[in-house]
Amino acid sequence: IRRIAISTGGGDAPGLNAVIRAVVLAALQRGWECFGIREGFNGILRPDRFPIDGVFAISKDQVRGINHLGGTILGTTNHGNPMRFVMKNADGSEYEVDRTDDIIQHLRAMEIDALICIGGDGTLTIAHALHQRGLAQGLRVIGVPKTIDNDLDKTYTTFGFDTAVAFATECIDRLHSTAESHRRIMVVEVMGRYAGWIALHAGMASTAHAILIPEIPYDIHQVAQKIHARTKAGRHYSIVVVAEGAQAKDGQRVLEEQARVGGVERLGGVGEQLAHQLEAITGKEARAVVLGHLLRGGSPTSFDRLSAMRFGAAAVRALDEGHSGIMVALAFPNVEYVNLAEVAGRMKAVPLDGDTIQTGRDIGICFGD
Ligand code: F6P
Repeated sequence: IRRIAISTGGGDAPGLNAVIRAVVLAALQRGWECFGIREGFNGILRPDRFPIDGVFAISKDQVRGINHLGGTILGTTNHGNPMRFVMKNADGSEYEVDRTDDIIQHLRAMEIDALICIGGDGTLTIAHALHQRGLAQGLRVIGVPKTIDNDLDKTYTTFGFDTAVAFATECIDRLHSTAESHRRIMVVEVMGRYAGWIALHAGMASTAHAILIPEIPYDIHQVAQKIHARTKAGRHYSIVVVAEGAQAKDGQRVLEEQARVGGVERLGGVGEQLAHQLEAITGKEARAVVLGHLLRGGSPTSFDRLSAMRFGAAAVRALDEGHSGIMVALAFPNVEYVNLAEVAGRMKAVPLDGDTIQTGRDIGICFGD
């Protein structure tokens, strides 16, 4: 290996900069050169956006002081999937082309021998395709798992998740007193896409009274009953935490296609809807709070920083050991390598027989079922 490139794709997550810094330091220490690709693969595929420095050399100086910063110094995007790159005909109509070969050729022309792709399921699927096609052309590919949602298979956690949970917990803690003072129901909607990890962990840690997650379709009347029981016991307020992908039992399912607006997933809105319904059923005042993108910002927790640094250094070690087509993963307490083919396109849902759900049931949290 002489030269490696790094790309960050999909929604940002606290800890991305810590991965980048660890990759750069570990690579430079081995005498390799490092390059950053801007905004996913747009630095290569969109010269209109990046006419000059779409792929740029990263020095030690450029990663100084970034370990604790949110976001990514490379930029990122949820648009521009190179496997389904949107092009325009002369008449303005659109068509999709697979441009993975363009990426491989661009990198090889720069004499880059390896690529580290940091991202969620979409990015890791692209990484797998780049590995399959790139290997014969002299390009090796390693994946690093990233998402605040923690919905990636084959890794215990992803960096960004702990930070999102910590911040959501702090926000929900703060809502207890205002809910109690006003004798209100507070419905807190959190991100998580089609998984309920953030809602479950933050809801448990902040002692929410009901937690609704996509893995357990809810019956609104079960939630109302819990609130009613609390009122009868002299507890005149309730906190309901709902994952953006949560679904009611009675078929008000947010279908995947309905959640896609302009090719980008858009969930959400469930918090507001629930607050209205609960107000109508219980007769108590209800308010909805949507934490949304606040969960993606800010400084990573020490756990996320360390996971990110370990992932970054392990990705470089994997290249040094001759690997390609693998993802670094947390197999608590160690970092191990898993095949990208086993990860691409697979989602990790909250296990319903897991200890965390069981703990919730043991202490009387309502899951709406
Ligand atoms: O996957 C991370 C995530 O933050 C999800 O929790 C959320 O549904 C989605 O990205 C939102 O993406 P954006 O608003 O960036 O399109």
